Amino acid sequence: MQLPSQIHQISYNGISLWIKRDDLIDPFISGNKWRKLKYILQDAASKNKKHLVTFGGAYSNHLLATAAAAAKFQLKATAFVRGEKVNNEMLTLCKIFGLQLHFTDRDSYKNKPALFQKHYGHDDEAYFIDEGGASYEATIGCAEIITELEEHFDHIFCAAGTGTTAAGLLKGINQLDLSTQLHVVPVLKGGDFIREEIAQYEQDLSNLHLHINYHFGGYAKTKTELIHFIRDFSAKTGILIDPIYTGKMFYAIRDLIEKEQIDKDAKILAIHTGGLFGILGKIVEFDKIF
Ligand SMILES: Cc1ncc(COP(=O)(O)O)c(C=O)c1O
Repeated sequence: MQLPSQIHQISYNGISLWIKRDDLIDPFISGNKWRKLKYILQDAASKNKKHLVTFGGAYSNHLLATAAAAAKFQLKATAFVRGEKVNNEMLTLCKIFGLQLHFTDRDSYKNKPALFQKHYGHDDEAYFIDEGGASYEATIGCAEIITELEEHFDHIFCAAGTGTTAAGLLKGINQLDLSTQLHVVPVLKGGDFIREEIAQYEQDLSNLHLHINYHFGGYAKTKTELIHFIRDFSAKTGILIDPIYTGKMFYAIRDLIEKEQIDKDAKILAIHTGGLFGILGKIVEFDKIF
């Protein structure tokens, strides 16, 4: 594990930016995934649980990270995968790491505690991990991104799906009483709900800014403009970003600076939350621009 994660300064089309390279923490338990799993796994170990049971879509970064972490720590792992049976590169990797998959129709998938109870209620070693690792423990791990920082940043940016990572970052900022502003870019449509998600874990939202117009059509949706941006950014900086999460965040940073909503001379830190295998699900979209 590469911890504390490195910070790289880059210059992209006249924008100067610092990037916290959580993507380099581990090839598979990458980005916010290790931050989230660290205290979840500690909690599981303290309760003598040896079987991780979790949930996700067919291209979930969380499933891959859980599979790799379970293998690393000699735990059993099972995932309920949303929707009909499919195969893809991400699930192949999960299976190589020993993850057991249960494809689950979308209706049953909605009630995760019920699924857990029905299938593993009898298993004393089974440990429930919510979709995306969303939990209080995950926020504690994500807050450590802030405590690792050795210098001040005016603005910190992160992408949001469930809002857990953002909640942890805000917790870290508030605990240290920093004036740093946290900018959250939801990758889903209607991302205003992220504010309530964050508020479950962290009451003081005064340093929080949501930028809800960078979803590009919704979760896992892309547009050619985003694909072009990702190619341009990666080719000019040597830092690979993905179309589901970090691509949308970096696009937002550039756009907000261009629109002068963020001062380009401010000190800006972007959290690279990993998720690079998400590119595998968008090969067709990338092929269109080459
Ligand atoms: C690569 C990546 N970045 C960001 C996020 C968003 O994290 P959160 O669900 O904590 O908002 C996720 C999803 O979990 C992710 O896989």
